[in-house]
Amino acid sequence: MITPSYPATRLRRPRATSWSRALHCEILVSPADLIWPLFVTEGTGVEQPIGSLPGVSRWSVDQIAMRAQEAVSLGIPCLALFPNTQAERRDPLGKEALNPDNLMCRATRAIRDACGDSIGVLTDVALDPYTSHGQDGLIDDAGYVLNDATTEVLIGQSLNQAAAGADIIAPSDMMDGRVGLIRTALESAGHHNVQIMSYAAKYASAFYGPFRDAVGSSGLLKGDKKTYQMDPANGEEALREVAMDIAEGADSVMVKPGLPYLDIIVRVKQRFELPVFAYQVSGEYAMIEAAAAAGAGDRDALVLETLTSFKRAGCSGVLTYHAAHAARLLGA
Ligand code: PBG
Repeated sequence: MITPSYPATRLRRPRATSWSRALHCEILVSPADLIWPLFVTEGTGVEQPIGSLPGVSRWSVDQIAMRAQEAVSLGIPCLALFPNTQAERRDPLGKEALNPDNLMCRATRAIRDACGDSIGVLTDVALDPYTSHGQDGLIDDAGYVLNDATTEVLIGQSLNQAAAGADIIAPSDMMDGRVGLIRTALESAGHHNVQIMSYAAKYASAFYGPFRDAVGSSGLLKGDKKTYQMDPANGEEALREVAMDIAEGADSVMVKPGLPYLDIIVRVKQRFELPVFAYQVSGEYAMIEAAAAAGAGDRDALVLETLTSFKRAGCSGVLTYHAAHAARLLGA
């Protein structure tokens, strides 16, 4: 082990000029690292700004296809879709999740028609955008979210999305056993190349508020999601969640939220050596926007610094509402 000592070693030496800083830079973020989450709503030609997510809108299906073309031109390889299901289409069982013509399926087909295979479509599997109670699964009389009854519906939801052309099925519900059940169903239906990106370590976080506004669940949800999402205090348990999802057939795993859980990203990457993604969630986006609006930080610099830290921690990519903006900053 070499012991560097001053003044033979001056760590500021390589930092002295911009060309040298560029040469020594360890991490490069590129538009190819980004997954752009988009919210889908009914109608044609519709853009609905979301109050708690300044700069983010819900788009009608035709507009989603245009965002997809924009993403392709920016070099963004993948979109993540979330529906704002109309209140009258929600019920306690989340049956709209199984409708082959629901917003997710129509948006997926519209993206495929507009862009062919030049962009990936990641679809979220969980029932909260479809249930009248806003929980991610089916509930019993006491409001407890039932595991095995829910996974039955999630299988149907996944097959419905795959039939519409989804490339990556992303279960965000945190039920036990769902990755294996979904993988088996996809194989039986011939969807051998449809990937599963598991929201493996998803925490019961206070950072999801604006998302729940965006999909229309915030007014419906009573209580919290602590009986299925993880306790923010737990790290070891995240490794067990990831180990199980890998064993069940996950192609990649996600840690969510992002920045408050960089330590989890590092531990997962080092332990399992598989593709890890971070979801820089709605509340994280909103914090950056609020800081920029308050003059407490430079938006562009905050965006790029956070994305860099995800890659430094070991992420293959990041889901971020700043994806299009970041891709432009990165000179796509
Ligand atoms: C729900 C889901 C949530 C997010 C993605 N899928 C919210 C929740 O668990 O309540 C959050 C994403 C974000 O905050 O940006 N299945």
